[in-house]
Amino acid sequence: MKGVNLGVAPVTYGTGDRPPRGDYARARSDYTCEQDWAQYSAADHDTYRRLYTRQLQHLPGLACDEFIAAVSELGEPEHIPRFDDISERLIKATGWQIVSVPGLIPEEAFFALLAARRFPVTDWIRRPEEFDYVVEPDVFHDLFGHVPLLFNPVFADYMQAYGAGGMKASRLDACELLARLYWYTVEFGLIDTPLGLRAYGAGILSSAGELPNSVRSSGPRRVGFDLQRLMRSRYRIDSFQDTYFVIDSFYQLFDATAPDFTPVYNAVRQRIAAEGEIEPGAVLAGEREFSV
Ligand code: PHE
Ligand code: FE
Repeated sequence: MKGVNLGVAPVTYGTGDRPPRGDYARARSDYTCEQDWAQYSAADHDTYRRLYTRQLQHLPGLACDEFIAAVSELGEPEHIPRFDDISERLIKATGWQIVSVPGLIPEEAFFALLAARRFPVTDWIRRPEEFDYVVEPDVFHDLFGHVPLLFNPVFADYMQAYGAGGMKASRLDACELLARLYWYTVEFGLIDTPLGLRAYGAGILSSAGELPNSVRSSGPRRVGFDLQRLMRSRYRIDSFQDTYFVIDSFYQLFDATAPDFTPVYNAVRQRIAAEGEIEPGAVLAGEREFSV
């Protein structure tokens, strides 16, 4: 039954005891669905507008330039955007489109969409009482956090390569190692710039609390991007990160992840078997740490 949408919520890493809240019965076999724009309430649009305007104020000095340059591509903050309007602009910029999904989808479906340059965006929005924190990704996280950088050609290519790499990782039983790469780059990545560290990860950029924490706070560790070190590193899903990985540029990220991961997975597995995984917040001897 692989690849068939059974109308039930997927099993994914890091979900809690509650079942995902989306209605998977309305999804197609590739897990995409129509964005039912008419069903958003005035309160839904208002939640989006308040999230968007708050987060926009936090960006200067904390978000990377590429993100700030593209955030206006999301359109006016007054309403939850129509995904098709954004796709029209995105296709012209980098050949990506965004597609609507009911929520988290199974890994293999997710990888297949990315490999086809289609980014799945959850169509529902958090409840007002979840304004500051929502367990599952909602339309605000997915759109505001992820979509601006899909307008950047190098990052856009990285995301497609990740999807193709995910399909391979599924065959190699290496999805958990590859998921760490997504977590520590696409979700929680930092980039070093001449003006200082900046955030490019969507989990940071869509969070009012984590954005200053990741870039400015003296609490967390910030270590240089190192693929094998990263794949050995566990992560927390229920609090701010204790460790962030810092890239020098999107080119560095693309180039470092371009080689075949088959031997990388094997090396990482051997190292984990010998020395264990790396806990969040650990700093290894001789490791380059970025100061803030
Ligand atoms: N080079 C990776 C592989 O062979 C594919 C990949 C690219 C994975 C970029 C993640 C990010 O598996
Ligand atoms: Fe995300």
